[in-house]
Amino acid sequence: MPGLLFGRRWPAAFSFFILLSFMGKAQPVVTLRMDGTGHAVAPKLYGLMTEEINYSYDGGLYGELIRNRAFRNNAMTADNWSLIEDGGARGKMSLDRQEPVGEALPVSLKMEVAEPGMRTGVANEGYWGIPVRPRTTYSVSFYAKASKAAALTVSIESRDGKKVYAKAESPAIGEGWQRYRMTLTTADAGAVSAGGIVPTADARFVISAKEAGTYWFSLVSLFPPTYNNTKNGNRQDIMQMLAEMKPAFLRFPGGNYLEGDYFSTRFDWKATVGGLEKRPGHPSPWGYRSTDGMGLLEFLLWCEDLKMEPLLAVFAGYTLKGDYFEDPRFLQPFIDEALDEIEYVMGDASTKWGAVRARDGHPAPFPLTYVEIGNEDGFDRSGSYEKRYNLFAAAIRAKYPNLKLISTTGGKNDWLSARHPLPKAGADVIDEHFYRSAIEMEEMATLYDNYDRSGPKIFVGEWASREGFPTTNLNAALGDAAFLTGLERNSDLVIMSCYAPLFVNVSPGGMQWKSDLIGYDALNSYGSPSYHVQKMFSNYLGDQTVSVEGRDLPTQVKKPNSKDSAAGVKPKTIPAMFFSATKDTKKGLVYLKVVNATSVEQDVKFVVEGVKSVVSQGTEVVLRSGNPEDTNTIAEPGKVVPVTSVVKGLGKDFKRKVAAWSVTVLQLQIK
Ligand code: AHR
Repeated sequence: MPGLLFGRRWPAAFSFFILLSFMGKAQPVVTLRMDGTGHAVAPKLYGLMTEEINYSYDGGLYGELIRNRAFRNNAMTADNWSLIEDGGARGKMSLDRQEPVGEALPVSLKMEVAEPGMRTGVANEGYWGIPVRPRTTYSVSFYAKASKAAALTVSIESRDGKKVYAKAESPAIGEGWQRYRMTLTTADAGAVSAGGIVPTADARFVISAKEAGTYWFSLVSLFPPTYNNTKNGNRQDIMQMLAEMKPAFLRFPGGNYLEGDYFSTRFDWKATVGGLEKRPGHPSPWGYRSTDGMGLLEFLLWCEDLKMEPLLAVFAGYTLKGDYFEDPRFLQPFIDEALDEIEYVMGDASTKWGAVRARDGHPAPFPLTYVEIGNEDGFDRSGSYEKRYNLFAAAIRAKYPNLKLISTTGGKNDWLSARHPLPKAGADVIDEHFYRSAIEMEEMATLYDNYDRSGPKIFVGEWASREGFPTTNLNAALGDAAFLTGLERNSDLVIMSCYAPLFVNVSPGGMQWKSDLIGYDALNSYGSPSYHVQKMFSNYLGDQTVSVEGRDLPTQVKKPNSKDSAAGVKPKTIPAMFFSATKDTKKGLVYLKVVNATSVEQDVKFVVEGVKSVVSQGTEVVLRSGNPEDTNTIAEPGKVVPVTSVVKGLGKDFKRKVAAWSVTVLQLQIK
C-alpha cells in the first residue's frame, strides 16, 4: 500500500522510514536578518507570458463571440455555422468565393432562402456557446449583400431556438457589400418564465430572413461589453483576474506562436494591424486558425490597460518546422520586419510605422525596454541562431541603442537554452524556460543562489510546475511557490519571470497544453492554485530583499525520474520548506513567504534580527487545502483560494503553526 507523506505517494515501508527520520527532528527555526545586506528587488520580477494556444485569444481573452467569423477555418465547409429552417422553410447555406469583400476576406457565407414568410437563418454557437447575461448590450456587425433589398433579423437565442434573449432588425440589406452594425440588449435578471435572464452559455447567434432571396455574409461579429469598453477589446472577467495579478510586463506574441510552423504562418505582425477587414488571420502551430483580431496593437492596448510594459519577441528567421535563413541577404527582410515592428511600438507619429500606429488610433508611442530575438532557439536544428541573432542584434542596436536585447540561448541551467552558447554579439538578458514536476521545481528553489553574476541577467520567460490539468493543482502551486522564493531571493540576477501557458479554454477540445494558469469557458473563469500563488507573490512584494535562514527544516526525498534512475541517479534528500522575504522600505512592512510542502503542520519558530521591534499584530494570507491534488474548476472555482486573516502574538521572536501543504505570506510591521 502506498502511503501519503510530505504530499507524495511512497511505498509504505519508505513512508515509515521517512516518518521515523522526521520524528527525531528539532523544531524548525527561521531567522530573518534585517541587517541591510539585501539587494533591490527587480521591479519587473512578475509579468505575464502569452500566445495563441488553448484558445487563449479566440475563444478566450479576445472579446469576439463568433467562431469562424470570416469562414476560413475550413476550406470546404462553414465550420461552426448551421442552417436554420423553421416551420418547413427551405434554405441552403454554402461557402462562396465568387465575390469577395476584399483580399483579406476572400470567402463569404451564402444563404439562399426559398420560402417567403418562414424563418430561414444561419446560426453560430460561438466558442462552446454564446454567453448570455442580463441587461447586457452586445455589438453586432457584418458585411452583407442581398439579391434584392430586404431586412434581416439578428438574435441571441437558446440552442434549440425556443427562447429568444435579444433580437433586432437590420436596415434593408443592399445589393453591394456594405458593413452593417446593430446592438442586441438582453432583459433584466429574473426567471426565464417571467421574461428575465439567468446567465447561460446554452445559446446561439442567428441571422435570419423571411424574404425569399440570396444573402451573403462576411466578417460576422458579436462582441459583449469589453474591459474598459475598448473597441475590439478583451473579456472583462479575465482582464479583471489579470489586473489582480499586478503584472509588470507582457511577453508576446509567443512562444511557438511567434515562430509558426512555416515562414508563411509566423506571427506576421503587419497582417495583424489595421481594420479587421484587412486581417486575413493565419493557421497557428497549436492546431487552429487565428483570426488575428488580437493583433499587435491589441497586445499593446492590453499592456496599457493593465499598466504592463510590452516585452516584444520578434520573429528571428527560424520556424518550428525548421525553415530558416542565415544568409544576410535572405534574412534581411525579417530584420527589416522586426525594425518596423519596433518602430510601430515605440516610434513617434512622425516615423513611418509610428504614423501607421497613429492612423490605427494610438498616436502616442508605447514604452519598450526589452526585445527578445526569437523563441527557444535551443531547438534550432540548423545551428543558425548565433548568426541570425548577431545580425538582428547589430541592426536593432544600430537603430535603438537603448533597447535591451534578450537571447534565447546561452543559459547555464535550462538544458534548452544551454544547448547553444550565448551569441557573440552578447545579450543583456538570457531567457530560460522550465517545465517540471512540483518536486523538481522545489529542488530548483536554490537554482540561482550560486549563479555566476558576471554575465547577462536572467529572464525566466516560461515556466510551470506541471501537475493537474487543464489547470494545475495545489501540489503544482507548492512547487511554483518554492521556485518563486528562489527567484525573489535572487532578483538581483533574475530580473523578470512569467508563468506559461497563461490561459486555457476548458471546454472539450479547448486544451492543447496541459497545466495552465487560468481556466474558463464561454461564461465563467477561475484561477488555478498556481494563479493564486502568482497573485500572492506579486501583490506582497517589497523593494528590498531580506536575508532568511532556515534551520532544522523538514526534508523530503526526491526520486529520480525513470531516465535518471536508469542512468544510476539515486534518490536525493531535499528541503520541504521554503522561504523568502522582502521589505517595503516606505511602509516598513516585511512580507515573509513560507511554503510548507509536507503533509504535516509545522510548528516553526521565527526570529527577526536587526530591528527594534515587530508590531504584535500582523496579517497572514494562506493558500492551503486538505489534499495536494485539490484544485479549482469552473464548478468549484473557490476550492483552493487564499484566506486573509489578522494574526496576533508576533514579535522579534514568535512561533506559528504552518499548515500542511500551504503557502503563506506573513506581513510584519517592523519598527
Ligand atoms: O508554453 C507552451 C510552449 O512551450 C511555448 O509555445 C514554447 O515556447 C514552449 O516550448
